[in-house]
Formats: sequence, structure tokens, C-alpha cells
Amino acid sequence: MKPKDLTYPFSFKDRRLLVENDVFYIPNYLSEYGEFDPQLPLDHPRVFIEFCSGNGEWIIQKALEHPNIQFFAVEKLFLRVQKIYSKRENLGIKNLFIVSGDINLLLEHFLPTNSVDTLAINFPDPWPKERHSKNRLFHKNFVAHVQRILKKRGAVFLVTDDTHFSAWVSQAMEGEFTLLKEDLKIPLENYGSSFFQRLWESKGKEIYYHHYAKRDLCST
Ligand SMILES: C[S@@+](CC[C@H](N)C(=O)[O-])C[C@H]1O[C@@H](n2cnc3c(N)ncnc32)[C@H](O)[C@@H]1O
Repeated sequence: MKPKDLTYPFSFKDRRLLVENDVFYIPNYLSEYGEFDPQLPLDHPRVFIEFCSGNGEWIIQKALEHPNIQFFAVEKLFLRVQKIYSKRENLGIKNLFIVSGDINLLLEHFLPTNSVDTLAINFPDPWPKERHSKNRLFHKNFVAHVQRILKKRGAVFLVTDDTHFSAWVSQAMEGEFTLLKEDLKIPLENYGSSFFQRLWESKGKEIYYHHYAKRDLCST
């Protein structure tokens, strides 16, 4: 199939929460999000979520490499969801569930406490201008949700090309998480590669690899 073969399942007027073909659609601007149970496949020994999946290149590779892990890709741009979906279908991948919607709505309403083993975020938009900083991920509320959804031995991987965003994340994660590597410029072993990673590397940009453990791991 081609990406455009996946069509958005409703018009803006008829928008609603919907799970269809292992895609959870979370439209913006609904008056109510709380009542719906999407029955996410979280009842699995190993749950791995990627936020900001883009065209899905990175997570598709991971899902192929680790058939015993249940993966989730979360992406708000439908044009990119179409690309993830078509890759998943064409490769016959069964362990990747897609969320078509905003991470913050997913976190706020649908991801239970202690449900995720690993969270990865590759090249989230850094919103470099100070006046746009409210759009950045890793505000206090976001970090609190990440702490909440992760299981006891939970890990977070964050990769970025932006020096200031890297520092922003380091500051936001302090206290709640333990940084497991000192030198952020050393790549993570067997980490894989995404579209934006290759783009920034081809332009000679430095990449920062963060690897965190949920704090309770270290206090036991
Ligand atoms: C710079 S791209 C990186 C894509 C991919 N991870 C990669 O490395 O190639 C950032 C992606 O995050 C998505 N994104 C940004 N904010 C989001 C949000 N609040 N919820 C879901 N996706 C989001 C954007 O639509 C975009 O596809």
C-alpha cells in the first residue's frame, strides 16, 4: 500500500475518539476525552513507546528487530502517520500500535500509571526561540507524566541536535531521573537511526544522546 491509501477516518465536524486497524485517533478540540477506553495493548511484559515518531523509520526498525516487544508510535501529523502505517502494513509488522494525535492528550487522558518500560524521543522540535519555549516538550507537567507512566525500571532515551534543548532537557529531568551517561556526545550502542538524525549528521551537526533511568531504580 501507499501512505495516501490510509485516509483520515472522519471530517472535522464528525471527529471523535476511534481505534481502527491498530491506530488510535485522538483529534484535537474534543469537548470530552475522559470517557473513552481505547484498550491500548499495554498488557504486555515489555512496552516501548516512541513520541514524535515522524515517518516512523526508527521505530519500524526497532519493531522488526524485537518482535517480543510491544511498540507504540505517537505522531500528530497525519501525513507522517500515513507513512508509519504503510511501512507497518507493507512489512507485516504486528507489534506496532500507532497513535495519531498529540502526545499531551495521550499522556493526560489515556496512558495509565506504571504501564511503560521505555520511552524514546528522537529529535523533538526544539523550539529554539525563547518566546516559543512554551511549545517545548519537557515542561514540569510533561516530566511528571513521564515519571508516572514509566514502570519501576523505566528508561527514557532522548536524542537531539540542539545544544540548548539538550540543556533544557537535562534541567527538566534533574531530580526525577538519573542520567546514565556522562558524555552526551557518545552515541548509544545499537541505537538505530532516524530520518532527522541522518539529515542533521549530513549537515555536520553534533548529536546529543540522553539516557535516563527513573529515579526509583537507583534508590532500591
Ligand atoms: C523533527 S521531527 C522528528 C521525527 C523523527 N523522530 C525523526 O527523528 O526523524 C519531530 C516530530 O514530532 C512530531 N510532534 C511534535 N510535537 C508533537 C506532539 N505534541 N504530539 C505528537 N507528535 C508531535 C512532529 O509532527 C514531527 O513529526
